Amino acid sequence: MCGITGYAGGGNAAEQVFEGLKRLEYRGYDSAGMAIIKPSGEVSVVKKQGKVDVLKPYVADMRGAIGMGHTRWATHGKPSDINAHPHFAGGIYVVHNGIIENYAELRQQLQSAGETFISETDSEVIAHLIKLNYGGNLLVALRTTVKMLKGSYALMVIREGEPQIAVAKRRSSLILGYGDGENFCASDRPALAGKCKRVSILEDGDFALITAQKIEIFDENLNPVNRPKIENTLTSEKLDLHGCPHYMLKELREVPQTVKNTYSSFAGIGEKLKEVFKGTKRVIFLGCGTAYHAGLIGKKYFEAFARVPAEAENAGEFRYKNPVITKGTVVFAVTQSGETADTIEAVILAKSLGAKVIAVTNVIHSAISRHADIVVPVSAGAEICVAATKSYAGQIAALYLCALTFAGKDASSKEYKQLDALCPVLENTLKEINVYTLAHMCACSNGVYFLGRGFDYAVALEGSLKLKEVSYIAGEGYPAGELKHGTLALIDGNTVSVVLITDEELASKSVSAVEQVLSRGGKVAVITCLPAVAKALKNKAEVISLPGCNKFLSPLVTAIAVQELAYRTAVILGRDPDKPRNLAKSVTVE
Ligand code: F6R
Repeated sequence: MCGITGYAGGGNAAEQVFEGLKRLEYRGYDSAGMAIIKPSGEVSVVKKQGKVDVLKPYVADMRGAIGMGHTRWATHGKPSDINAHPHFAGGIYVVHNGIIENYAELRQQLQSAGETFISETDSEVIAHLIKLNYGGNLLVALRTTVKMLKGSYALMVIREGEPQIAVAKRRSSLILGYGDGENFCASDRPALAGKCKRVSILEDGDFALITAQKIEIFDENLNPVNRPKIENTLTSEKLDLHGCPHYMLKELREVPQTVKNTYSSFAGIGEKLKEVFKGTKRVIFLGCGTAYHAGLIGKKYFEAFARVPAEAENAGEFRYKNPVITKGTVVFAVTQSGETADTIEAVILAKSLGAKVIAVTNVIHSAISRHADIVVPVSAGAEICVAATKSYAGQIAALYLCALTFAGKDASSKEYKQLDALCPVLENTLKEINVYTLAHMCACSNGVYFLGRGFDYAVALEGSLKLKEVSYIAGEGYPAGELKHGTLALIDGNTVSVVLITDEELASKSVSAVEQVLSRGGKVAVITCLPAVAKALKNKAEVISLPGCNKFLSPLVTAIAVQELAYRTAVILGRDPDKPRNLAKSVTVE
């Protein structure tokens, strides 16, 4: 949340920074700004409310070889030109991703010392502190400053007349990129895609100095330190929309490849995973939003395949409930970005109480990985749309394979093969699916309820979240059996109930829920892979028929349907599904 990027080199820094910000826009898009060091040593600044494109008219006039920028998701202070970064004081310019928890007291102290503030942000205190702490060495001033800060930060700082960028990191990610006669820094990999061959990931407490010629990394005591240089495999081609109007659609279409890649990458970790599982008596899945919904499915896999007690919990809730961690507890941290603050803090707590930790993440070298006994890769590739699509599928596939491994099944088992065989089914589902009529029904409704039992209930929750997130239509996901315990009161002719029915054993119960809604005058759509259900309901409800598959893998198929529905509804309503209002990807604040 919030994207920052910096450039030092022979090229035009403003163009590089602008391009980097465009690629980081998924991290926040309520305001943006840049600071560029002119050849004279002075710094030119532009900062504006709005998406990154608001900076475009200024790029050509901002000449200079070193610069940095910020795209914001507001935490302290509303989106506005003034609250946009960079913040500055006395020739010091700062862009910040994170939260300064003690900013109010620091601000008061600084005001008492005569400093004048112009924004409402927490970040502005950093510029004032560095200004006052500066005694001839920017890095030393930065270190003195961060020692006074409580909270999280990825910081980039420039000073008038100094051709370098100083950076510091704690609990917010920061990546450095080694180019040819130019160097880069950014919150996340997409900004560096295709720009450099190697990258280093900074650790908590690290500092770095970046110039066109070199990158120097220092530990918390400012001693030089080496961080591994890893290959930058992300190319700009991978960030292309490939003719799709939105990333959400493009990424939805990448679901089969994600499942295939997640399946292949799992082969490398099976043995180590068995070691981690030794002595396991209980499994807890932690995650937020969509990742939590994947955890709900993981829980069902472990219960069904291994008959081991399993729970799934929202990571933000887990952290504050004084959790009971018994001997032999394994915690799965499910997180696409590996950066979600609630999930990281929950994992740190679980670990301190003696749990083993398995991170299921799309970003192998992310913050969560440092707290994990093992990382299970979700091989979705870069996910740019704020709404998770393909990463959810990758998480489900990874958890399915983890559960099979726990249950002692290997690649020769029929369950393994069933996942491998599912990819063509997913491809067909994407090709054949038609949710246009249903999307129009949803777009015209006052509320959309998603209902299901078992695996269908877990996907119902995800369907509801996705529709709310990208179309702004209110609704909820419910267990189909719960309907009669309260929700039926909401049903009228202006509501749509989307009922998922994939499990033959539970089908008749879910069909009863359909009848209950119909008899209260509600509109109903049924998403099913059971031909008999489709036939029975085709004259009463809008029916979306999906290919048949076993119930354990059905979430991968039904997820495509509900995500496609959310996408189409958003487009009908003229929303931007890639950048829903008020949101950002990678939620690095609690
Ligand atoms: C919804 C969505 C969010 C994320 C949640 C956790 O479409 O994307 O609900 O799933 O913010 O993010 P990660 O998986 O990065 O921990």
